[in-house]
Amino acid sequence: MIFWRVKSLDSIMATAKKKCLHRSLGVWQLTLLGIGAIIGTGIFVLTAEAAQKAGPGMMISFIIAGFVCAVAALCYSELSSMVPVSGSAYTYSYAVLGELIAWMVGWALILEYSVAAGAVAVGWSGYFVGLLNNSLLGIEIPFVLANGPYAGGIINLPAVVICLLVTGLLIIGTRESATFNAVLVAVKIVALIAFTILALPVINMDHFHPFLPLGTSGVVAAAASIFFAYVGFDAVSTAAEETKDPQRSLPIALVGSLLICTLFYLLIAVAVVGAAGAQPLINAAGEGFIPGSIEMAEQCKLLAAQGQQPVVCSQEALAHVLREIGWVKVGNLIGLAAFLALPSVVLMMLFGQTRIFFVMSRDGLLPDGLSKIHPRFKTPYIVTLVTGSFVTVSAAFLPVGKLANISNSGTLFAFLIVALSVMILRIKDKNRTRPFKTPAIWLMGPLAIGGCIILFLFLPTDAQLVFPIWTGIGLIFYFLYGYRRSHVLLGIDTPSGGENLIEPIRSLVDCDEKNRVGDK
Ligand code: ALA
Repeated sequence: MIFWRVKSLDSIMATAKKKCLHRSLGVWQLTLLGIGAIIGTGIFVLTAEAAQKAGPGMMISFIIAGFVCAVAALCYSELSSMVPVSGSAYTYSYAVLGELIAWMVGWALILEYSVAAGAVAVGWSGYFVGLLNNSLLGIEIPFVLANGPYAGGIINLPAVVICLLVTGLLIIGTRESATFNAVLVAVKIVALIAFTILALPVINMDHFHPFLPLGTSGVVAAAASIFFAYVGFDAVSTAAEETKDPQRSLPIALVGSLLICTLFYLLIAVAVVGAAGAQPLINAAGEGFIPGSIEMAEQCKLLAAQGQQPVVCSQEALAHVLREIGWVKVGNLIGLAAFLALPSVVLMMLFGQTRIFFVMSRDGLLPDGLSKIHPRFKTPYIVTLVTGSFVTVSAAFLPVGKLANISNSGTLFAFLIVALSVMILRIKDKNRTRPFKTPAIWLMGPLAIGGCIILFLFLPTDAQLVFPIWTGIGLIFYFLYGYRRSHVLLGIDTPSGGENLIEPIRSLVDCDEKNRVGDK
Protein backbone atom coordinates (compact mmCIF):
# COMPACT_ATOMS: atom_id res chain seq x y z
CA MET A 1 0.00 0.00 0.00
CA ILE A 2 1.69 3.15 -1.26
CA PHE A 3 0.24 5.32 1.48
CA TRP A 4 2.43 3.32 3.87
CA ARG A 5 5.54 3.96 1.83
CA VAL A 6 6.59 6.65 4.21
CA LYS A 7 10.16 7.85 4.53
CA SER A 8 11.05 8.21 8.17
CA LEU A 9 11.97 11.71 9.28
CA ASP A 10 15.08 10.30 10.92
CA SER A 11 16.31 8.74 7.69
CA ILE A 12 15.66 11.99 5.81
CA MET A 13 17.70 13.88 8.38
CA ALA A 14 20.47 11.27 8.25
CA THR A 15 20.70 11.60 4.45
CA ALA A 16 20.93 15.36 4.75
CA LYS A 17 23.67 15.14 7.35
CA LYS A 18 25.82 13.10 4.98
CA LYS A 19 25.85 15.95 2.53
CA CYS A 20 28.58 18.43 2.49
CA LEU A 21 26.94 21.81 2.44
CA HIS A 22 28.56 24.79 3.91
CA ARG A 23 26.22 26.46 6.36
CA SER A 24 26.72 30.07 5.45
CA LEU A 25 23.34 31.73 5.15
CA GLY A 26 22.09 33.91 7.98
CA VAL A 27 18.65 35.38 8.62
CA TRP A 28 19.20 38.42 6.42
CA GLN A 29 20.57 36.52 3.46
CA LEU A 30 17.71 34.08 3.70
CA THR A 31 15.16 36.87 3.89
CA LEU A 32 16.76 38.50 0.84
CA LEU A 33 16.64 35.15 -0.92
CA GLY A 34 12.92 34.98 -0.19
CA ILE A 35 12.30 38.54 -1.39
CA GLY A 36 14.39 37.81 -4.48
CA ALA A 37 12.18 34.87 -5.38
CA ILE A 38 8.90 36.61 -4.47
CA ILE A 39 9.11 39.98 -6.21
CA GLY A 40 8.75 39.51 -9.94
CA THR A 41 6.20 39.40 -12.69
CA GLY A 42 3.35 39.25 -10.17
CA ILE A 43 3.68 42.82 -8.96
CA PHE A 44 5.39 44.29 -12.04
CA VAL A 45 2.91 42.89 -14.58
CA LEU A 46 -0.05 41.03 -13.12
CA THR A 47 -1.22 44.08 -11.19
CA ALA A 48 -2.92 45.05 -14.47
CA GLU A 49 -4.68 41.70 -14.62
CA ALA A 50 -5.82 42.00 -11.00
CA ALA A 51 -7.25 45.44 -11.83
CA GLN A 52 -9.12 44.00 -14.81
CA LYS A 53 -10.70 41.39 -12.54
CA ALA A 54 -11.39 43.44 -9.42
CA GLY A 55 -11.00 47.15 -10.22
CA PRO A 56 -9.87 49.23 -7.21
CA GLY A 57 -10.98 46.30 -5.01
CA MET A 58 -7.73 44.59 -6.03
CA MET A 59 -6.28 46.10 -2.86
CA ILE A 60 -8.39 43.57 -0.96
CA SER A 61 -7.26 40.84 -3.37
CA PHE A 62 -3.66 41.50 -2.37
CA ILE A 63 -4.64 41.17 1.30
CA ILE A 64 -6.53 37.90 0.73
CA ALA A 65 -3.70 36.31 -1.27
CA GLY A 66 -1.11 37.56 1.23
CA PHE A 67 -3.13 36.14 4.13
CA VAL A 68 -3.39 32.67 2.56
CA CYS A 69 0.36 32.72 1.91
CA ALA A 70 1.09 33.92 5.46
CA VAL A 71 -0.78 31.03 7.11
CA ALA A 72 0.82 28.61 4.64
CA ALA A 73 4.23 30.14 5.46
CA LEU A 74 3.65 29.51 9.17
CA CYS A 75 3.00 25.85 8.35
CA TYR A 76 6.08 25.71 6.10
CA SER A 77 8.06 27.20 8.97
CA GLU A 78 7.17 24.40 11.36
CA LEU A 79 8.12 21.68 8.89
CA SER A 80 11.23 23.37 7.57
CA SER A 81 12.56 23.98 11.08
CA MET A 82 11.84 20.36 12.05
CA VAL A 83 13.19 18.86 8.84
CA PRO A 84 15.71 21.36 7.50
CA VAL A 85 16.47 19.44 4.31
CA SER A 86 15.98 19.99 0.61
CA GLY A 87 12.94 19.04 -1.41
CA SER A 88 10.51 21.26 0.45
CA ALA A 89 6.85 20.20 0.24
CA TYR A 90 7.77 17.00 -1.62
CA THR A 91 10.09 15.80 1.15
CA TYR A 92 7.69 16.78 3.94
CA SER A 93 4.80 14.91 2.40
CA TYR A 94 6.97 11.84 1.78
CA ALA A 95 7.57 11.71 5.51
CA VAL A 96 4.00 12.28 6.54
CA LEU A 97 1.56 11.19 3.86
CA GLY A 98 3.60 8.62 1.99
CA GLU A 99 4.98 8.17 -1.49
CA LEU A 100 1.85 8.58 -3.60
CA ILE A 101 0.96 11.98 -2.18
CA ALA A 102 4.63 12.99 -2.23
CA TRP A 103 4.76 12.10 -5.92
CA MET A 104 1.63 14.16 -6.58
CA VAL A 105 3.14 17.10 -4.71
CA GLY A 106 6.45 16.78 -6.59
CA TRP A 107 4.51 16.59 -9.85
CA ALA A 108 2.46 19.67 -8.86
CA LEU A 109 5.69 21.49 -8.02
CA ILE A 110 6.64 21.07 -11.69
CA LEU A 111 3.64 23.27 -12.43
CA GLU A 112 4.69 25.70 -9.73
CA TYR A 113 8.29 26.07 -10.83
CA SER A 114 8.36 25.42 -14.59
CA VAL A 115 5.15 27.19 -15.50
CA ALA A 116 6.03 30.06 -13.18
CA ALA A 117 9.37 30.40 -14.99
CA GLY A 118 7.41 30.71 -18.25
CA ALA A 119 5.10 33.32 -16.73
CA VAL A 120 7.98 35.42 -15.47
CA ALA A 121 9.65 35.21 -18.90
CA VAL A 122 6.48 36.49 -20.60
CA GLY A 123 6.25 39.25 -17.99
CA TRP A 124 9.85 40.18 -18.71
CA SER A 125 9.07 40.30 -22.41
CA GLY A 126 6.40 42.98 -21.82
CA TYR A 127 8.94 45.18 -20.03
CA PHE A 128 11.62 44.51 -22.64
CA VAL A 129 9.32 45.54 -25.48
CA GLY A 130 8.15 48.61 -23.57
CA LEU A 131 11.69 49.60 -22.71
CA LEU A 132 12.88 49.36 -26.32
CA ASN A 133 9.89 51.29 -27.50
CA ASN A 134 10.07 54.07 -24.92
CA SER A 135 13.81 54.48 -24.68
CA LEU A 136 15.94 56.66 -26.90
CA LEU A 137 16.30 53.71 -29.24
CA GLY A 138 12.61 53.82 -30.11
CA ILE A 139 12.76 50.27 -31.50
CA GLU A 140 9.38 48.65 -31.99
CA ILE A 141 9.16 44.87 -32.00
CA PRO A 142 6.24 43.86 -34.25
CA PHE A 143 3.16 42.99 -32.21
CA VAL A 144 2.87 39.52 -33.78
CA LEU A 145 6.42 38.67 -32.71
CA ALA A 146 5.96 39.81 -29.12
CA ASN A 147 2.64 38.11 -28.40
CA GLY A 148 1.35 34.57 -28.64
CA PRO A 149 -1.72 33.52 -30.63
CA TYR A 150 -3.91 34.23 -27.57
CA ALA A 151 -3.61 37.96 -28.20
CA GLY A 152 -3.65 37.87 -31.98
CA GLY A 153 0.12 37.42 -32.35
CA ILE A 154 2.26 34.51 -33.54
CA ILE A 155 4.99 33.98 -31.00
CA ASN A 156 6.49 35.78 -28.03
CA LEU A 157 10.06 35.93 -29.29
CA PRO A 158 11.63 37.93 -26.43
CA ALA A 159 10.21 35.39 -23.95
CA VAL A 160 11.67 32.56 -26.03
CA VAL A 161 15.08 34.23 -26.11
CA ILE A 162 15.21 34.83 -22.35
CA CYS A 163 14.13 31.22 -21.62
CA LEU A 164 16.83 29.85 -23.91
CA LEU A 165 19.43 32.17 -22.41
CA VAL A 166 18.59 31.20 -18.84
CA THR A 167 18.55 27.50 -19.76
CA GLY A 168 21.97 27.91 -21.36
CA LEU A 169 23.30 29.72 -18.29
CA LEU A 170 22.05 26.94 -16.04
CA ILE A 171 23.71 24.32 -18.24
CA ILE A 172 27.07 26.02 -18.13
CA GLY A 173 26.69 26.23 -14.39
CA THR A 174 25.56 29.73 -13.49
CA ARG A 175 24.57 29.86 -9.87
CA GLU A 176 22.56 32.38 -8.05
CA SER A 177 25.05 33.78 -5.58
CA ALA A 178 23.87 35.36 -2.36
CA THR A 179 25.66 38.62 -3.20
CA PHE A 180 24.28 38.84 -6.74
CA ASN A 181 20.83 38.09 -5.36
CA ALA A 182 21.20 40.87 -2.78
CA VAL A 183 22.08 43.38 -5.54
CA LEU A 184 19.04 42.40 -7.62
CA VAL A 185 16.77 42.52 -4.58
CA ALA A 186 18.07 46.03 -3.95
CA VAL A 187 17.29 46.98 -7.58
CA LYS A 188 13.72 45.70 -7.25
CA ILE A 189 13.14 47.31 -3.88
CA VAL A 190 14.51 50.68 -5.00
CA ALA A 191 12.23 50.47 -8.06
CA LEU A 192 9.18 49.70 -5.93
CA ILE A 193 10.01 52.43 -3.40
CA ALA A 194 10.53 54.97 -6.20
CA PHE A 195 7.19 53.97 -7.69
CA THR A 196 5.39 54.37 -4.37
CA ILE A 197 7.02 57.72 -3.55
CA LEU A 198 6.10 59.19 -6.93
CA ALA A 199 2.62 57.70 -7.32
CA LEU A 200 1.18 58.02 -3.80
CA PRO A 201 1.19 61.85 -3.66
CA VAL A 202 -0.90 62.14 -6.84
CA ILE A 203 -3.70 59.90 -5.62
CA ASN A 204 -7.11 60.99 -6.81
CA MET A 205 -9.86 59.72 -4.52
CA ASP A 206 -12.32 59.62 -7.45
CA HIS A 207 -10.33 56.71 -8.84
CA PHE A 208 -11.55 54.53 -5.97
CA HIS A 209 -15.17 54.68 -7.19
CA PRO A 210 -16.78 52.33 -8.00
CA PHE A 211 -14.69 50.27 -5.63
CA LEU A 212 -16.03 46.84 -6.62
CA PRO A 213 -17.12 47.19 -10.27
CA LEU A 214 -17.23 43.41 -10.73
CA GLY A 215 -18.43 42.51 -7.25
CA THR A 216 -16.80 40.48 -4.50
CA SER A 217 -16.32 37.47 -6.76
CA GLY A 218 -14.08 39.65 -8.93
CA VAL A 219 -12.02 40.44 -5.83
CA VAL A 220 -11.52 36.75 -4.94
CA ALA A 221 -10.81 35.86 -8.58
CA ALA A 222 -8.14 38.57 -8.64
CA ALA A 223 -6.73 37.19 -5.37
CA ALA A 224 -6.47 33.74 -6.97
CA SER A 225 -4.40 35.23 -9.80
CA ILE A 226 -2.34 37.71 -7.80
CA PHE A 227 -1.43 34.84 -5.46
CA PHE A 228 1.32 34.36 -8.04
CA ALA A 229 2.98 37.55 -6.81
CA TYR A 230 3.66 35.89 -3.44
CA VAL A 231 4.85 32.54 -4.73
CA GLY A 232 8.52 31.93 -4.15
CA PHE A 233 8.78 32.35 -0.39
CA ASP A 234 9.01 28.57 -0.16
CA ALA A 235 12.39 28.92 -1.90
CA VAL A 236 13.66 29.90 1.53
CA SER A 237 12.87 26.48 2.94
CA THR A 238 14.83 24.79 0.17
CA ALA A 239 17.97 26.51 1.42
CA ALA A 240 17.63 24.77 4.78
CA GLU A 241 20.80 22.74 4.48
CA GLU A 242 22.92 25.80 3.85
CA THR A 243 21.55 27.81 6.72
CA LYS A 244 23.22 28.68 9.97
CA ASP A 245 20.89 27.90 12.85
CA PRO A 246 18.08 26.84 10.48
CA GLN A 247 15.62 26.18 13.27
CA ARG A 248 15.60 29.85 14.15
CA SER A 249 16.47 31.48 10.86
CA LEU A 250 14.04 29.68 8.55
CA PRO A 251 10.78 30.71 10.19
CA ILE A 252 11.97 34.31 10.61
CA ALA A 253 13.07 34.52 6.96
CA LEU A 254 9.96 32.79 5.59
CA VAL A 255 7.49 34.98 7.42
CA GLY A 256 9.73 38.07 7.25
CA SER A 257 10.17 38.04 3.47
CA LEU A 258 6.46 37.53 3.02
CA LEU A 259 5.56 40.39 5.38
CA ILE A 260 7.96 42.82 3.70
CA CYS A 261 6.56 41.96 0.25
CA THR A 262 2.95 42.19 1.43
CA LEU A 263 3.60 45.69 2.73
CA PHE A 264 5.13 46.77 -0.58
CA TYR A 265 2.34 45.19 -2.60
CA LEU A 266 -0.35 46.95 -0.61
CA LEU A 267 1.29 50.33 -1.01
CA ILE A 268 1.72 49.71 -4.72
CA ALA A 269 -1.87 48.57 -5.19
CA VAL A 270 -3.12 51.75 -3.49
CA ALA A 271 -0.73 53.86 -5.57
CA VAL A 272 -1.72 52.23 -8.89
CA VAL A 273 -5.42 52.63 -8.23
CA GLY A 274 -5.14 56.15 -6.83
CA ALA A 275 -2.69 57.57 -9.35
CA ALA A 276 -3.89 56.09 -12.62
CA GLY A 277 -7.29 54.54 -11.94
CA ALA A 278 -7.87 50.81 -12.29
CA GLN A 279 -11.36 50.35 -13.67
CA PRO A 280 -11.83 47.16 -15.72
CA LEU A 281 -12.90 47.11 -19.36
CA ILE A 282 -16.49 45.88 -19.51
CA ASN A 283 -18.06 44.12 -22.51
CA ALA A 284 -21.56 44.63 -23.93
CA ALA A 285 -22.97 42.01 -21.55
CA GLY A 286 -21.71 44.03 -18.60
CA GLU A 287 -18.95 41.54 -17.76
CA GLY A 288 -15.24 42.22 -17.55
CA PHE A 289 -13.18 41.14 -20.57
CA ILE A 290 -11.04 38.11 -19.82
CA PRO A 291 -7.47 39.29 -19.34
CA GLY A 292 -5.15 37.92 -22.01
CA SER A 293 -7.97 37.16 -24.44
CA ILE A 294 -8.15 38.27 -28.06
CA GLU A 295 -11.30 40.28 -27.26
CA MET A 296 -9.46 42.16 -24.53
CA ALA A 297 -6.46 42.78 -26.83
CA GLU A 298 -8.80 44.15 -29.52
CA GLN A 299 -10.57 46.41 -27.05
CA CYS A 300 -7.21 47.73 -25.88
CA LYS A 301 -6.13 48.39 -29.49
CA LEU A 302 -9.36 50.26 -30.08
CA LEU A 303 -8.80 52.46 -27.04
CA ALA A 304 -5.16 53.02 -28.00
CA ALA A 305 -6.31 54.27 -31.41
CA GLN A 306 -8.39 56.84 -29.51
CA GLY A 307 -5.36 57.83 -27.47
CA GLN A 308 -6.46 56.03 -24.30
CA GLN A 309 -4.17 53.62 -22.50
CA PRO A 310 -5.78 52.28 -19.35
CA VAL A 311 -3.60 50.43 -16.85
CA VAL A 312 -5.53 47.20 -17.42
CA CYS A 313 -4.21 47.11 -21.00
CA SER A 314 -0.58 47.55 -20.05
CA GLN A 315 1.97 44.76 -20.14
CA GLU A 316 4.28 46.80 -17.96
CA ALA A 317 1.84 48.17 -15.41
CA LEU A 318 4.17 50.00 -13.02
CA ALA A 319 6.28 51.68 -15.71
CA HIS A 320 3.06 52.62 -17.51
CA VAL A 321 1.54 54.31 -14.44
CA LEU A 322 4.64 56.45 -13.92
CA ARG A 323 4.67 57.51 -17.58
CA GLU A 324 0.97 58.38 -17.31
CA ILE A 325 1.55 60.68 -14.34
CA GLY A 326 4.39 62.46 -16.09
CA TRP A 327 7.45 60.61 -14.82
CA VAL A 328 8.46 59.21 -18.20
CA LYS A 329 12.16 58.80 -17.45
CA VAL A 330 11.61 57.20 -14.06
CA GLY A 331 9.00 54.96 -15.71
CA ASN A 332 11.68 53.83 -18.13
CA LEU A 333 14.07 53.25 -15.23
CA ILE A 334 11.45 51.05 -13.52
CA GLY A 335 11.24 49.19 -16.82
CA LEU A 336 15.02 48.85 -16.76
CA ALA A 337 14.89 47.49 -13.19
CA ALA A 338 12.33 44.85 -14.21
CA PHE A 339 14.37 44.08 -17.32
CA LEU A 340 17.47 43.48 -15.17
CA ALA A 341 15.88 41.70 -12.24
CA LEU A 342 13.17 39.44 -13.68
CA PRO A 343 15.58 37.03 -15.45
CA SER A 344 16.98 36.07 -12.05
CA VAL A 345 13.46 35.00 -11.00
CA VAL A 346 13.28 32.84 -14.16
CA LEU A 347 16.64 31.38 -13.20
CA MET A 348 15.56 30.68 -9.63
CA MET A 349 12.37 28.98 -10.76
CA LEU A 350 14.15 26.85 -13.35
CA PHE A 351 16.83 25.98 -10.87
CA GLY A 352 14.22 25.07 -8.24
CA GLN A 353 12.72 22.74 -10.81
CA THR A 354 15.96 20.88 -11.48
CA ARG A 355 16.44 20.55 -7.74
CA ILE A 356 13.00 18.98 -7.25
CA PHE A 357 13.73 16.59 -10.13
CA PHE A 358 16.97 15.65 -8.45
CA VAL A 359 15.39 14.81 -5.14
CA MET A 360 12.72 12.78 -6.92
CA SER A 361 15.21 10.86 -9.00
CA ARG A 362 17.38 10.31 -5.92
CA ASP A 363 14.33 8.59 -4.43
CA GLY A 364 14.04 6.39 -7.53
CA LEU A 365 10.77 7.96 -8.70
CA LEU A 366 12.25 9.49 -11.86
CA PRO A 367 14.74 7.89 -14.27
CA ASP A 368 18.39 8.27 -13.35
CA GLY A 369 19.16 9.31 -16.94
CA LEU A 370 17.39 12.60 -16.34
CA SER A 371 19.96 13.59 -13.78
CA LYS A 372 22.94 12.80 -15.99
CA ILE A 373 25.73 15.21 -15.24
CA HIS A 374 27.54 17.08 -17.99
CA PRO A 375 31.18 15.92 -17.99
CA ARG A 376 32.60 19.40 -18.40
CA PHE A 377 30.09 21.75 -16.76
CA LYS A 378 29.16 19.33 -13.97
CA THR A 379 25.53 20.32 -14.27
CA PRO A 380 22.42 18.17 -14.79
CA TYR A 381 22.15 19.18 -18.44
CA ILE A 382 19.51 16.68 -19.56
CA VAL A 383 16.98 17.68 -16.94
CA THR A 384 17.79 21.34 -17.52
CA LEU A 385 17.34 20.96 -21.28
CA VAL A 386 14.02 19.14 -20.89
CA THR A 387 12.73 21.68 -18.39
CA GLY A 388 14.07 24.60 -20.42
CA SER A 389 12.37 23.37 -23.61
CA PHE A 390 9.05 22.93 -21.81
CA VAL A 391 9.29 26.41 -20.32
CA THR A 392 10.33 27.97 -23.65
CA VAL A 393 7.39 26.48 -25.55
CA SER A 394 4.89 27.55 -22.91
CA ALA A 395 6.32 31.08 -22.79
CA ALA A 396 6.28 31.32 -26.60
CA PHE A 397 2.56 30.72 -26.97
CA LEU A 398 0.71 31.37 -23.72
CA PRO A 399 -0.19 34.64 -22.02
CA VAL A 400 1.37 35.60 -18.72
CA GLY A 401 -1.93 35.47 -16.81
CA LYS A 402 -2.79 31.96 -18.01
CA LEU A 403 0.67 30.69 -17.10
CA ALA A 404 0.48 32.32 -13.68
CA ASN A 405 -2.94 30.79 -13.02
CA ILE A 406 -1.76 27.31 -14.03
CA SER A 407 1.29 27.69 -11.82
CA ASN A 408 -0.97 28.80 -8.96
CA SER A 409 -3.07 25.64 -9.23
CA GLY A 410 0.02 23.47 -8.56
CA THR A 411 1.30 25.74 -5.80
CA LEU A 412 -2.05 25.81 -3.99
CA PHE A 413 -2.05 22.02 -3.94
CA ALA A 414 1.47 21.93 -2.48
CA PHE A 415 0.56 24.50 0.20
CA LEU A 416 -2.55 22.55 1.11
CA ILE A 417 -0.56 19.35 1.59
CA VAL A 418 2.02 21.14 3.72
CA ALA A 419 -0.69 22.46 6.05
CA LEU A 420 -2.25 19.00 6.23
CA SER A 421 1.13 17.43 6.96
CA VAL A 422 1.79 19.78 9.88
CA MET A 423 -1.52 18.85 11.48
CA ILE A 424 -1.05 15.11 10.93
CA LEU A 425 2.48 15.24 12.36
CA ARG A 426 1.19 17.04 15.45
CA ILE A 427 -0.93 13.94 16.12
CA LYS A 428 1.34 11.19 14.78
CA ASP A 429 4.65 12.41 16.13
CA LYS A 430 3.75 14.80 18.89
CA ASN A 431 6.92 14.32 20.92
CA ARG A 432 9.37 15.29 18.19
CA THR A 433 11.23 18.52 18.89
CA ARG A 434 9.68 21.45 17.07
CA PRO A 435 12.02 24.43 17.10
CA PHE A 436 9.23 26.49 15.58
CA LYS A 437 5.62 25.72 16.29
CA THR A 438 2.91 27.19 14.12
CA PRO A 439 0.82 29.21 16.58
CA ALA A 440 -2.79 28.01 16.97
CA ILE A 441 -2.23 25.24 14.44
CA TRP A 442 -5.81 24.00 14.68
CA LEU A 443 -6.90 27.41 13.45
CA MET A 444 -4.01 28.22 11.09
CA GLY A 445 -3.94 24.79 9.43
CA PRO A 446 -7.62 24.76 8.48
CA LEU A 447 -7.38 28.42 7.44
CA ALA A 448 -4.49 27.58 5.11
CA ILE A 449 -6.32 24.58 3.68
CA GLY A 450 -9.62 26.46 3.31
CA GLY A 451 -7.83 29.45 1.78
CA CYS A 452 -6.07 27.27 -0.80
CA ILE A 453 -9.32 25.53 -1.73
CA ILE A 454 -11.22 28.81 -2.10
CA LEU A 455 -8.50 30.39 -4.24
CA PHE A 456 -8.36 27.26 -6.40
CA LEU A 457 -12.13 27.43 -6.90
CA PHE A 458 -11.82 31.02 -8.08
CA LEU A 459 -9.12 30.30 -10.65
CA PRO A 460 -10.31 30.41 -14.27
CA THR A 461 -11.77 27.09 -15.46
CA ASP A 462 -8.88 26.28 -17.81
CA ALA A 463 -6.34 26.57 -14.98
CA GLN A 464 -8.59 24.42 -12.79
CA LEU A 465 -8.76 21.78 -15.51
CA VAL A 466 -5.04 21.71 -16.20
CA PHE A 467 -4.36 20.59 -12.64
CA PRO A 468 -6.36 17.29 -12.62
CA ILE A 469 -5.20 16.49 -16.16
CA TRP A 470 -1.60 17.11 -15.18
CA THR A 471 -2.03 15.04 -12.00
CA GLY A 472 -3.60 12.22 -14.05
CA ILE A 473 -0.60 12.16 -16.39
CA GLY A 474 1.66 12.14 -13.34
CA LEU A 475 -0.16 9.20 -11.79
CA ILE A 476 0.13 7.17 -15.00
CA PHE A 477 3.83 7.92 -15.03
CA TYR A 478 4.16 6.96 -11.38
CA PHE A 479 2.46 3.60 -11.74
CA LEU A 480 4.44 2.81 -14.88
CA TYR A 481 7.78 3.80 -13.42
CA GLY A 482 8.31 5.07 -9.86
CA TYR A 483 5.96 2.61 -8.17
CA ARG A 484 8.31 -0.28 -8.95
CA ARG A 485 11.62 1.54 -8.67
CA SER A 486 11.03 3.51 -5.53
CA HIS A 487 14.07 3.37 -3.29
CA VAL A 488 11.81 3.12 -0.26
CA LEU A 489 10.24 -0.01 -1.78
CA LEU A 490 13.63 -1.45 -2.71
CA GLY A 491 15.07 -0.60 0.67
CA ILE A 492 17.76 1.66 -0.78
CA ASP A 493 18.30 4.34 1.79
CA THR A 494 21.20 6.44 0.65
CA PRO A 495 21.44 8.53 -2.48
CA SER A 496 23.15 6.77 -5.33
CA GLY A 497 25.09 9.75 -6.61
CA GLY A 498 24.76 13.29 -7.79
CA GLU A 499 23.48 14.26 -4.38
CA ASN A 500 25.90 17.11 -4.13
CA LEU A 501 24.00 18.73 -6.97
CA ILE A 502 20.71 18.77 -5.18
CA GLU A 503 21.37 21.92 -3.29
CA PRO A 504 24.17 23.66 -5.08
CA ILE A 505 22.47 26.97 -5.52
CA ARG A 506 24.42 29.30 -3.37
CA SER A 507 27.11 27.90 -1.22
CA LEU A 508 27.86 24.28 -1.84
CA VAL A 509 31.49 23.71 -1.07
CA ASP A 510 33.71 20.97 -2.32
CA CYS A 511 34.76 19.47 0.92
CA ASP A 512 36.90 16.56 1.82
CA GLU A 513 36.10 13.75 4.15
CA LYS A 514 37.20 15.54 7.27
CA ASN A 515 34.85 18.44 6.61
CA ARG A 516 31.80 16.31 6.18
CA VAL A 517 29.00 17.44 8.40
CA GLY A 518 27.69 14.72 10.62
CA ASP A 519 29.81 11.92 9.14
CA LYS A 520 31.55 9.58 11.50
N1 ALA B 1 6.33 35.67 -7.19
C1 ALA B 1 7.09 35.56 -8.37
C2 ALA B 1 6.70 36.59 -9.36
O1 ALA B 1 5.82 37.35 -9.11
C3 ALA B 1 6.98 34.19 -8.96
O2 ALA B 1 7.30 36.66 -10.41
